[in-house]
Amino acid sequence: MMDWSDRHYRYFMRQISAQARLYTEMITTGALVHGDVDRHLAFSEEEHPVALQLGGSEPDELARCAKLGRQYGYDEINLNIGCPSERVQRGAFGACLMAEPRLVASCVSRILDEVDLPVTVKHRIGIDNVADYGFVRDFVGTVCEAGARTFIVHARNAVLKGLSPKENREIPPLKYAYVYRLKQDFPKLEMVINGGITTRAQIDAQIGKVDGVMLGRAAYHDPWLLADAGKTRADVVQRMVSYCREHPEFTLRGVARHMLGLYHGAPKARLWRRMLSDSEKLKRNDPGLLLEGLEVVETPGYVEVALST
Ligand SMILES: Cc1cc2nc3c(=O)[nH]c(=O)nc-3n(C[C@H](O)[C@H](O)[C@H](O)COP(=O)(O)O)c2cc1C
Repeated sequence: MMDWSDRHYRYFMRQISAQARLYTEMITTGALVHGDVDRHLAFSEEEHPVALQLGGSEPDELARCAKLGRQYGYDEINLNIGCPSERVQRGAFGACLMAEPRLVASCVSRILDEVDLPVTVKHRIGIDNVADYGFVRDFVGTVCEAGARTFIVHARNAVLKGLSPKENREIPPLKYAYVYRLKQDFPKLEMVINGGITTRAQIDAQIGKVDGVMLGRAAYHDPWLLADAGKTRADVVQRMVSYCREHPEFTLRGVARHMLGLYHGAPKARLWRRMLSDSEKLKRNDPGLLLEGLEVVETPGYVEVALST
């Protein structure tokens, strides 16, 4: 997720869940061809398994970028065919490519010529007013012939004109049934469902109907939702302190901003957020701030005592 699933967030999430497959933000081919490759692609070994999500529509450029991804050690190349933003449409990629399944198939096949990694596709169930299931079925049918075996389906349409990206995550109705039909029609493909899933119970309810579940906003705002049994938040914070200390080149602000949701729904969640958002303290760039926050939220009665002394 743009601006969210950067390497710091992914490292943090990996401390919480050993198994979840993590995805980079969408990185455009332009950013890799003309920009600072290392800044976009460098990541920590501990993040595995991690997928590189690419945005683009030019098969040779995508293949070149996938090759870079391979060199950096990513485990999967994912193509973004779901982003509705106008900026992305001007670059002629993202969700508008659902109307061009043959081009998407060429992209997948060129990437597969170049790298021995799974190539997966993230897409919507339709664009604009298309309500026909046949549209997404034919899209998947064409693209899988090029060798994509996993499809991550955000189960709502993308409206290309008139809705912002944010509205495009909320307004077009979710139609999970389309994803279940895809699984029935393509039983050998792996179908991963995405959109509006926010609880463990909802995740469990999907398993059996589809092969996997992708969480977006909930995984960011409430990361503990995905915590492995036996993990504690204190362990995670300690690991993040070590991470910051091992990498003095990272700013504490850049790391801490992804940790604000760690105590989501728990007592003192607001206090944790407030402590980790303290501009003056963040400026000092001392990871000890995370330990201070931890002490405040984990010590029973700490605040009351602090206030009364
Ligand atoms: C801030 C933000 C950035 C996003 N960036 C991307 C992106 O780079 N690539 C992508 O495939 N989806 C992106 N998405 C969409 C999410 O991956 C997901 O498909 C969408 O939010 C619906 O799932 P959810 O209801 O679990 O959040 C983004 C969503 C948000 C909120």
